[in-house]
Amino acid sequence: MASEEPAGQLRLVDLTKRFGPTGRRFGPTSRRSASSGSGVTAVDGLDLSVPAGSFFALLGPSGCGKTTTLRMVAGLEEPTSGRVLLGGEDITGLRPYRRPVNTVFQSYALFPHLDVFENVAFGLRRRGVPDVAGQVRRMLALVQLDGYDRQRPTRLSGGQQQRVALARALVNRPRVLLLDEPLGALDLALRRRMQLELQRIQTEVGITFVHVTHDQEEAMTLADTVAVMNAGRIEQLGPPAELYEFPATAFVANFLGRSNLLAGTVRGRGGDDVLVEAYGRRFSVPVARSRTLGAPVLLGVRPEKVRLVGAVEQVPDGHQWLDGTVGDAVYLGVSTQYLVRTGQGVELSVFAAADGEAPRIPVGSAVVAHWHPRHAFLLAGTDTDTGTGIDTGTGTGIGGAASAGAGSVEATRS
Ligand SMILES: Nc1ncnc2c1ncn2[C@@H]1O[C@H](COP(=O)(O)OP(=O)(O)O)[C@@H](O)[C@H]1O
Ligand SMILES: [Mg+2]
Repeated sequence: MASEEPAGQLRLVDLTKRFGPTGRRFGPTSRRSASSGSGVTAVDGLDLSVPAGSFFALLGPSGCGKTTTLRMVAGLEEPTSGRVLLGGEDITGLRPYRRPVNTVFQSYALFPHLDVFENVAFGLRRRGVPDVAGQVRRMLALVQLDGYDRQRPTRLSGGQQQRVALARALVNRPRVLLLDEPLGALDLALRRRMQLELQRIQTEVGITFVHVTHDQEEAMTLADTVAVMNAGRIEQLGPPAELYEFPATAFVANFLGRSNLLAGTVRGRGGDDVLVEAYGRRFSVPVARSRTLGAPVLLGVRPEKVRLVGAVEQVPDGHQWLDGTVGDAVYLGVSTQYLVRTGQGVELSVFAAADGEAPRIPVGSAVVAHWHPRHAFLLAGTDTDTGTGIDTGTGTGIGGAASAGAGSVEATRS
């Protein structure tokens, strides 16, 4: 099949997987489906394009469909509908062993009765490839396990076993390497080291890596492109910095770091700004930082972009502010996390870097929280956001705020 696309380019087109109520179950029986009566939609019309040679991370909470997606790419799970394309070629119907794809699992799945060399050699021997020894030794060198050839995997540490699993997959020269939470079983320090190793190896072999994780820091450390997945769909895809600085949805804003999200209403345009009313105050957000110009919105600002001062007079020109009281202060060494209860009924999270300059602010202090509009972002909201608060699980919930009323005050210093 002739194709314009590079061999390692992976495309998922409208990929869907529904597990029926009678569907066969894998894994631990404690797994619960979202709606067991009519089955569960694990992957929901997923469209995704993974550039050849990229280090791509699929990031999302447990149960959002990451493993199911990988299994459909590997051919271990049959899609309910949709297609899997590799290098422009439709591989949806191919048997797993016919696909130029290998998978590394969290559970290594090494052969305990074979030594390290034979574990890595396994795929080559099965295919009757010549010069097994040369290729295996090059792979063991790549993962820095030279000299371990004759060890049994059970004698190795977790990190070493994961390297064997990597070598065993890479020796087959797949066009795409799938990694399903491969570092999940390692302790934090080892995980950091293996993240650097994975990056080095990917750069050396140049193969497309699709790395699944629920750890946002790991995804941001490793990947040049991150896709944030939620409930079987991709919410946003892009370079880590872009996702962090300008999230597209409330879910992304709170899954990648944390965000303050103020429920408000758009009141019009002023030059290059969108004017927003929230909690009886006026705010503005640059049009270029707005995902919507519609009415109900969420005005977002990251906790580290908010500063605290003692009085409104100290708020820099052009900044916007809310005043309140410090309700909680958590000292974390590199920063202090404050919770500010504003007079408007909103709670704001504020991270103050421990730069040795700013004094710590005692709980109970009256403060003014301020930020520059260019650090804010605007997301589409729903009518229920205003007044009821939102709770995306990991972030700061905005609770019990009154809806915007008449006589709103200008919240910008000028
Ligand atoms: N074989 C299966 N049968 C029924 N439901 C399944 C099966 N595999 C996964 N699921 C369900 O599909 C959803 C997505 O699972 P999974 O892809 O494992 O998520 P993740 O890897 O992101 O944690 C979950 O609700 C899970 O319970
Ligand atoms: Mg999984």
